[in-house]
This record gives sequence, C-alpha cells and structure tokens, in this order.
Amino acid sequence: MLSNRVKRVGVLTGGGDCPGLNAVIRAVTKSLTNRYGMEVIGIEDGFLGLIENRTVPLTYDAVSGILQRGGTILGTSNKADPFHQLVEKDGKIHYEDCSKKTLRNIENLALQALICIGGDGTMTVATELAERGVPIVGVPKTIDNDLYGTDITFGHDTAVSIAAEAMDRIHTTAQSHHRVMIVEIMGRYAGWLALHSGLASGADIILIPELDYEIDIVCEKVWERSRKGRRFSIIAVAEGAKPKGGELVVSRIVKDSPEKIRLGGVGIKLANDIEDRTGLETRATVLGHLQRGGTPTAFDRILATRYGVGAADLIANGQFDRMVALQGRDIVSVPVTEVGGRSRKVPLDSPLLSIAEAVGSSLGVKLG
Ligand code: F6P
Repeated sequence: MLSNRVKRVGVLTGGGDCPGLNAVIRAVTKSLTNRYGMEVIGIEDGFLGLIENRTVPLTYDAVSGILQRGGTILGTSNKADPFHQLVEKDGKIHYEDCSKKTLRNIENLALQALICIGGDGTMTVATELAERGVPIVGVPKTIDNDLYGTDITFGHDTAVSIAAEAMDRIHTTAQSHHRVMIVEIMGRYAGWLALHSGLASGADIILIPELDYEIDIVCEKVWERSRKGRRFSIIAVAEGAKPKGGELVVSRIVKDSPEKIRLGGVGIKLANDIEDRTGLETRATVLGHLQRGGTPTAFDRILATRYGVGAADLIANGQFDRMVALQGRDIVSVPVTEVGGRSRKVPLDSPLLSIAEAVGSSLGVKLG
C-alpha cells in the first residue's frame, strides 16, 4: 500500500565520496517527484548539513545531467556525527551532542523521511537517528565493498576498473625495466578491491588483509617468475594487508574523524622488503583517491539507479529503517540497524581465492 503520509523527503550523502552518488541522488529525486509526487530536499555535506541546517531543493530539473558525474552534488563529510560532533567554542575544540538541534532541524524542515547514502559510519549514525524516531532509508555506498547486508555496494565496480587499468599500465614499465612493480590499493580492512582488481588485471601476487602474507612466499614467487624468464612481476597489495606477525601500516591519524585511522604505506614497505631480499629492482605506486574519482562505470550507474528507485519505493510503501541491498540479482532491503559497525570481509572459503591460485596468482600464503 502506498503511503499517503510522506510528502517531503531529505537526502544526504555521508562518508568518502564515491562514483555513483549522483546517480543515486538523481534516481531518488526523479522517482520520488515523478512517480510519487513527493518533494525532495538535499542536505549539504552529509550529517554536517543536518546539524547546521544547510539544504538545497532537489527538483527533477536540478538532477538532470548528473548521472555520469563523479563525486556528489550535495557535498559530503566523513567527520560529522550529530551525536558526537567536534565543535569549536571560545577557541577550544571539544565533542558535543548536537542530536537535539539536529532533530529540531529535521522537524522544522518537515522531513517525514531521510535517505542516507553512505557506508558503515553513515549507517551507524542513521541507526541512531532511527532509534530517535526519524524514518530512515539507507543506500549502500563504498568503493571498499565492505558493507554488511549487501552483496555489493555501488562505487566498487568503478574503483575495481580504475585499479585494474592502473595495473595494466604498470605492466609497460615492469616489462621494459624488468622490475617488480607494486600497486597499493584502497579498501580499508577488506580485500575486495585488491582481489577483484588483481584478478581483473592478472596480477602475479595479490595480498589482502584477510590473509597475512609471508614475505618468503612473496619473494619465492618473484624468483620463480625470474627463473622462468619472466623478468618482472606485478603485485596488487591492499592497504590493509600485513605480513604474518607484522603490523598494519598507518599513514595518518585523523583526530576529528569518528574513524581515526587511515591506512597507507604498505606498498613502500613491501617494495623495500622485496628489494632487500631479492636484489631485484622494485617500485611501489599508491593509487590513493584516484580510485574514488571520475565517472561511474555503466554497471555502477545501473546499480545506483536501482538502489535509488528501490529507496524511493520503500518510502512510498511506508517501509522505514531499512537499507536497500543487492542479494543475488535482486534488490531487497535489510534492517539498517544490522548494518552499522559490522563489516564484510573476503571469506576465507571464497571461490575467488582458489580461482586466483588456479590462474597462477600467489596470495602470499600457502592455502590449506
Ligand atoms: O572507505 C573509502 C576509502 O577510500 C578507503 O578505501 C580508504 O582507506 C579511506 O576511504 C581513505 O579516507 P580519506 O579520504 O579520509 O583519506
């Protein structure tokens, strides 16, 4: 049954930017306005805009022509949290609970539902808002593909394509200079991005956080290729990968972010370790934010559009506090409360791991 209660819906994008955000905003807006006659209000800069009451009207025309655009027309923040917000008062910085103000803003804006497009952190805040009575619908975003409850997040496919293309290009230098070339790939504590892009580009070695690598096995693979006359190797290493018995490599601590640790640097460490042990010339490239940039792939545009229309349908049907998800080939929904604070890693029995080995890619460990 269609809900005739909801007239005005808020939309925000939270966390890191990601290809496909605009495609979701477009799909949500077109679907809610066109199909259901609702009004859509965009919240600027994620939860920060909700705390500071900064909004922009989203009309059918306002979202025309944004399907292909990277980033988010609404802006985003991976630091804002209405329940634990860093604020500056009298030159001093401290955390404040801004939730009352935020709830007041939602009420004053007459929002009867709020669509939160984001990853784990966004779904955690969305859950807290849902617990205080805000009708929430979540849309799963992240290049890392590490969100619980869905088979795939939008943005991941684009990032995989970018990383795979980067490794294809690295081949040229690897081959010409007979070098070991390492490509460090994002993904936080999950190896999806490195595994998928490593498979897509035929990387010789793929190192993921789920499997602590053994440096001797990595070097042996490089040597083995050399012995066979393949005088170069390409290594895809996830930023969250670490050697057996070793530590994660942290690039920075972002003090004012709910998730303070930023990973990065394992590629350089690995390059030094390999060069020291094998004497082979080794270089590392960190892909960084290139992986989040630019236009989404056709797959992500379609997925983002399906998610956006799915989110609008949930609202129209009065189904709240749920996140749209892809399970198998179908768009379904799961309780948003189940998503935040949990992550989805590459399972150790994933067929992809043995597929990688079957085609000669080492995972830096001996699989049982
Ligand atoms: O979650 C997306 C992501 O790009 C991760 O892969 C990466 O670890 C992190 O965000 C980087 O965050 P920031 O943009 O704050 O440096």
